[in-house]
Amino acid sequence: MFYEPVRDDHGLPFNPFKSICVPRPIGWITTLDLQGRVNLAPYSQFQNLGFDPPFVMFSASGGDQHTPRNARLTGEFVCNMATYELREAVNVTAQAVPAEESEPELAGLEMLPSRLVKPPRVARSPVHMECRYHSSVMLPTRAPGISVEIVIGEVVGVHIRDDALTPEGRLDVTRIRPLARMGYLDYTAVDTVFTMPPIGSAERRLSRGMEGRPLRSAGVPAAVPAAVPAAVPDDVPGG
Ligand SMILES: Cc1cc2nc3c(=O)[nH]c(=O)nc-3n(C[C@H](O)[C@H](O)[C@H](O)COP(=O)(O)O)c2cc1C
Repeated sequence: MFYEPVRDDHGLPFNPFKSICVPRPIGWITTLDLQGRVNLAPYSQFQNLGFDPPFVMFSASGGDQHTPRNARLTGEFVCNMATYELREAVNVTAQAVPAEESEPELAGLEMLPSRLVKPPRVARSPVHMECRYHSSVMLPTRAPGISVEIVIGEVVGVHIRDDALTPEGRLDVTRIRPLARMGYLDYTAVDTVFTMPPIGSAERRLSRGMEGRPLRSAGVPAAVPAAVPAAVPDDVPGG
């Protein structure tokens, strides 16, 4: 089959697009609003961008979500890793509730303070990334007046719970079981891992990069260029 998204002419009972880019890791994102109220919501359009320094992005399509606006206005957010064990709490925090209602309270989640940013961390999540807002990219939608906002942040601090690491010092993903979104109402969790070393002339270099071996001596990192001011006015729909 072939279809053109702009025509929506797939002829299927459900739009297949969300089932194509799968699985999508879920960034479970904590922010504070300007009054200091905690907000927590899952974003499956979530990925890393670059490694050194690491950046992450999440994409908000709803037009009026709290998370992108809070991240942009306060300059900080925290990505908590969503896991299979926490799946129901993740679902609870996806509800659209007014800013004065706390999603962590709704889901019965204890929060922990962060070290470098103000938004707190979900205590039961095994991995947290503290992020400083870098910039937003706006994409058009077919709904008049609504934009998609892609929020990019630099990861400035990473917490990994001791029991989320193997004795060899690797993330124990089959124990953590990171949760991921598929299409429709489907989810998956990482339950199996297989290993495949790279081949060819760049094998050694590729292998070091893929494994995450340090490429430069540890120490004080080179200064990261200051964040580009967001070219996003406060009243942009989608913020
Ligand atoms: C697992 C899951 C993943 C989601 N991913 C996204 C996403 O990538 N982008 C988006 O705009 N909304 C996504 N949503 C919906 C938001 O979580 C929902 O709109 C939420 O109310 C936003 O909260 P906020 O206004 O506090 O940011 C997702 C929902 C669930 C359950």
